[in-house]
Amino acid sequence: MAETVIKCENVYKIFGSNAKKMLQESNGNVDAKTFQKNGCIVGVNNASFEVSKGEMLVVMGLSGSGKSTLLRCISRLTDATGGKIFIEGQDLLQLNNKELIELRRNKMGMVFQSFALLPHKTVVENIAFPLQIKGIKTEDSISKAMDMVKLVGLDGRENYFPRELSGGQQQRVGIARSLAVEPDIWFLDEPFSALDPLIRKEMQDEFLRLQEKLQKTIMFITHDFDEALKLADRIAIMKDGIIEQLDTPANIVLNPATEYVRKFTEEVPREKVLLIEDVMDASKNDLGDLKVSKDEIIENVAEKILTQEKAVAVIDNKNEIVGSINPTKIINTVFGGRKNNN
Ligand SMILES: Nc1ncnc2c1ncn2[C@@H]1O[C@H](COP(=O)(O)OP(=O)(O)OP(=O)(O)O)[C@@H](O)[C@H]1O
Ligand SMILES: [Mg+2]
Repeated sequence: MAETVIKCENVYKIFGSNAKKMLQESNGNVDAKTFQKNGCIVGVNNASFEVSKGEMLVVMGLSGSGKSTLLRCISRLTDATGGKIFIEGQDLLQLNNKELIELRRNKMGMVFQSFALLPHKTVVENIAFPLQIKGIKTEDSISKAMDMVKLVGLDGRENYFPRELSGGQQQRVGIARSLAVEPDIWFLDEPFSALDPLIRKEMQDEFLRLQEKLQKTIMFITHDFDEALKLADRIAIMKDGIIEQLDTPANIVLNPATEYVRKFTEEVPREKVLLIEDVMDASKNDLGDLKVSKDEIIENVAEKILTQEKAVAVIDNKNEIVGSINPTKIINTVFGGRKNNN
């Protein structure tokens, strides 16, 4: 098991002057409507989960569901009203200011929903700034910053000021600035939402490539389910401050826990998301000659399987048969799942 980097235990964030008192009186049973009647807004409602080293947890949900608030609690930009948060085993709420600054400067990176660039610094100066705060020499920080400028496709714009950039370009500066520090734990709040679809796709691919290499522990917020499916190791789906389901993309698509979650999965092309492993059967009897890897995305092998008469052997990376898949199973998965089950 990979080590746990982020751990939340019954975390609540409630806004309003009465919040602490009402939370105590509720005994942990927080009803958003009752709280609202009493002048409190529920941001996060009883969140418990863990993120392992090198894992990317994507937090998904509609506007106002509490995604940013949850992230702000974990990075302690705001203090949770109740519950416990641990970063690498350290109780976040027990840290003093100095320890918190250390943690933020050396361990955590953040990309915000609003770009938060320094208006009087150029692109390259903005990116180099956190490196200089860490004590890296100006020359070295600028050189590293220029690498990041290239990485996010802003060559030639390094001496522009933020006001001279489009929203999407500013967002890319924010991403580059946060990447330059090479944090172990990376918080990204809708980093790609202001980008054109084409650039967004490129940034997603680039991001996955980087993550493959860097293996950071990541919490990534989006309200785009396709983006969540593409990037996530696991997805947490939030509604009204509550995590409705936290699971792998495949399990969320195959077994949505609530009606709200099911709605998101309705339009998802399953064959692009699910792996053979996710839908295979355990039986190893009466197999044909064709073999497919358990790690293939269904879409890539569907055609081959559909031309078979017998069940197809599913193999692992040691070439051992671990199960089988029937042509009818492929048809059911691709065409059956999107219809309502009710
Ligand atoms: N400082 C605050 N004071 C009072 N209420 C707040 C505050 N910040 C957030 N909220 C409320 O908490 C709830 C969750 O907000 P949050 O910003 O976490 O949503 P979100 O899921 O990030 O939405 P979006 O996708 O629009 O960014 C909302 O109802 C919001 O109005
Ligand atoms: Mg938000």
